[in-house]
Amino acid sequence: MEHAISKRPAATAASTAPRHDIYAFVHKGMRAWMGDLLGRVGRTDPDDVAEIAATLDALSELLAFCRSHIAHENEFVHRAMEARRPGSAEVTAADHVGHENAIRELEGIMTSVQFAAVGGSAAALQRLYRQLARFVAENLEHMAVEESHNNLVLWETHSDDEIRGIEHALVASIPPAAMMGTLRWMLPWMNARERVTMLSGMRQGMPAEAFRAVVGMIRQHLSADEWRKLAGALRL
Ligand SMILES: [Fe+2]
Repeated sequence: MEHAISKRPAATAASTAPRHDIYAFVHKGMRAWMGDLLGRVGRTDPDDVAEIAATLDALSELLAFCRSHIAHENEFVHRAMEARRPGSAEVTAADHVGHENAIRELEGIMTSVQFAAVGGSAAALQRLYRQLARFVAENLEHMAVEESHNNLVLWETHSDDEIRGIEHALVASIPPAAMMGTLRWMLPWMNARERVTMLSGMRQGMPAEAFRAVVGMIRQHLSADEWRKLAGALRL
C-alpha cells in the first residue's frame, strides 16, 4: 500500500523557504532575561539590603524594557497587521493590556519589598517571586502566540522586505542607551550563526566606535568558546 505521505504535493522552494521572523531574536533575549530575573529574585538574600536593592534595580530595568517592547509591538507590528487584516492583532493587543496591569502590580510588590520592616522582606520577596513567575509564564505563552499566529498573519499579508521595513522602523525608534540594554540580552542568547549574521549587519550600518562598544559589551556575556567563534567569523 502506498504511504500517505507520498501523495502530498511536492513542496516548492517558495513554500519551504524560511520567512523573516520579526520576533525571533528579541524573544530569545526576553526569555533569557525573564528567566534570569526570576531566578535572581528567588535567590535574593532577604537579610541583605544591598542585594535586595540590586535585584530590584535589575527587575526595574527588565520591566521598563517590557513596557517599551509592548509599545513598540503595538505601534509597529500590530498596526501593520490591523491595516491589512483588521482584527488580527486583537488577541495579543488584549494580552498587552494585561501585561501593563501585571507590571504595575509587580511594581507595587517591589515597593513593599523595598520598604518592608526588618524581618518582613522575606515574605515580600516570596510574593514578588511568585507574582513574577506568573508574569513570566504568561509572557512565554504570549510570545508563542506572537511567533505562530501573528507571524502567520504578517507572512500572509506582507512580503519579507515589508516585514524588514517594519522592523527597521521599530529599531530606529529605540534610543541608543535602551538599545544597548536590549542587545545585552539579545546577542548573547542567540546561537553562534545568528550572532554573526546580526553583528555583520549591524557593522554595515553603524560607526566603527559604536560597533566596538557593542562587541566589547557582549564579550563579557559570552563563553570563551562563543567569543572565539565570533571573533574568528568577524575577524575582530
Ligand atoms: Fe507582545
